[in-house]
Amino acid sequence: MSEDKIDLSEFDEIPDRVARAKAKAEALRKAREAAGGETSAPKPADEAPAQAPAEPGGDSGPSEVDLSSLDEIQDRVARAKAKAELMRKARGSGGAAPARAPVKKAASTADRAAAARALTQKTDEPAAERVIVQTSPAPPEIRPGPERTQAVAEGGMTTRRGFFTWLTLAWASFAVASGAGLLGFARFLFPNVLFEPPQSFKIGFAEDYDLGVDERWKDKFSVWIVKTTQDMFALISVCTHLGCTPNWLGNEQKFKCPCHGSGFYVTGINFEGPAPRPLERARIVLAEDGQVLVDKTRKFLYEKGHWDNPESFLRI
Ligand code: FES
Repeated sequence: MSEDKIDLSEFDEIPDRVARAKAKAEALRKAREAAGGETSAPKPADEAPAQAPAEPGGDSGPSEVDLSSLDEIQDRVARAKAKAELMRKARGSGGAAPARAPVKKAASTADRAAAARALTQKTDEPAAERVIVQTSPAPPEIRPGPERTQAVAEGGMTTRRGFFTWLTLAWASFAVASGAGLLGFARFLFPNVLFEPPQSFKIGFAEDYDLGVDERWKDKFSVWIVKTTQDMFALISVCTHLGCTPNWLGNEQKFKCPCHGSGFYVTGINFEGPAPRPLERARIVLAEDGQVLVDKTRKFLYEKGHWDNPESFLRI
């Protein structure tokens, strides 16, 4: 019999069958006594008779029935019923489960342990009738301990989700830093080059200029073109004090530096302010095509007598 299923109805049928077999055996025995031991026993009408073991060396008549074996069967049935009842009480939680209904497994380890204790504590029962319930170990319940629960609540322990979040942030930061590094490296591939205007350039024909100071090339080439009735020269628009760019004041007919107030005549000679010397002139000549060519790579300084050089002015 399976330990999980207890069918007491089977035990209830066995005593009835044994009682019927005993009655038939008794009737057979009485019939034999009435017939002087030579007649055969009547055949059972509804069920097969319990066949008694034949006597060794006897004739073909029915043998004697051993009723002690039937009593032993009854005793074994009674013990089996008692054992099954004990198992049913041990497993049931108070309700009368149906005999054929499968007994549910213990809901938890605690229930199984209680059932085992109930069985083992019945010390007054005979040793032969004790029932040992085999219980399989239940899987351990996974519950976070108090330290882990508190740590997770305070954010002090990294969970799997938190780990992947930090991993993603770390990779994103690494990608940004790598991109910035690559950009910086690419910047070094392009050195700081000042794309200054050419130092030598043509300014057109001399007839295109009126008398006086022309500022059309001041912003692009930092020179004034000064034209008089006799000549034409190019003044470099850099203050000789600290390098500021003076302004031409037509009403006052002078160059005035906005930084410290230095003043220069239209010829470029300084006359006021901290400027220590006159403005510088650039080389000015006629090109092959007749245009005026200004070359800033050659400068002419008044204090050194350079303004007498024929390339420091263009004779008209
Ligand atoms: S820079 Fe022109 S006056 Fe000082």
